Amino acid sequence: MVDPDLPTKSLSIKGLRAGYGSLDILNGVDLDVPQGQFVALMGPNGAGKSTLLKSLYGMTTIKGGSIEWQEKNIAGYKPRAILAEGIAFVPQGRCNFPVMTIDENLQMAAYTLRDDRVKSDRDYVYDLFPILKARRNTLAGNMSGGEQQLLEVAMAVLQRPKILLVDEPSVGLSPAAIAIVFNELLRINAGGQTILLVEQNTKKAMEVAHRAVILRLGKVIWDGKPADITHDELSELFLTGRMRGEAKAEH
Ligand SMILES: Nc1ncnc2c1ncn2[C@@H]1O[C@H](COP(=O)(O)OP(=O)(O)O)[C@@H](O)[C@H]1O
Ligand SMILES: [Mg+2]
Repeated sequence: MVDPDLPTKSLSIKGLRAGYGSLDILNGVDLDVPQGQFVALMGPNGAGKSTLLKSLYGMTTIKGGSIEWQEKNIAGYKPRAILAEGIAFVPQGRCNFPVMTIDENLQMAAYTLRDDRVKSDRDYVYDLFPILKARRNTLAGNMSGGEQQLLEVAMAVLQRPKILLVDEPSVGLSPAAIAIVFNELLRINAGGQTILLVEQNTKKAMEVAHRAVILRLGKVIWDGKPADITHDELSELFLTGRMRGEAKAEH
């Protein structure tokens, strides 16, 4: 039997053009993300990775194309409406309320939910992130970078999204902290959570993701399994937009 809570259709982005005011950044992005997949979105600085996540979350100017999500075109929806459709976004940077405890931060995030759900939702997040539970009375600002990043992810997960958009969670973190964040992302993905992760740490991203999507100059230039591309080929793609030996792409 088909689970009625599961979307009959996943995320399907077609010919998406978007930017900021009159500035065009995405020049026709096509991307389908099936339910439960862990996708790493990579590419050189300025490729439009953050702009793509922001576009999915209603924070850019949409110029054309469509963002189909569960059989609706949500292009042009406002962030609040997008969250209500089951899409949550963890932007770059961390820790909104450093002088509040982890528990208080989660309570703040839960205020957008119905009051009677706050306690059970916090328990749900603590079950998912035991590290946060152990430190629930610690001021967020006194936690390590990795723990603060986890708190940001947890605050998004509290909304029980169907897809989680995460922008560069590893920036500025120590290798140990990066390992913690990625392990937790892997763990929530193993529970069925769809993840679209922007990541500049390509080595780490290729280790965890089911699929790698490479964006350059506002377009998807490569899309496949991490096992199908070497680190050198990836660097070449970032630099030139094509693989070694491949004819120069027409622009
Ligand atoms: N708020 C903004 N207003 C205008 N231009 C922006 C804004 N944010 C990003 N850009 C521009 O959009 C381009 C793509 O940026 P971004 O999506 O952040 O790239 P990436 O995340 O791949 O490094 C860059 O040229 C950047 O300067
Ligand atoms: Mg970015």
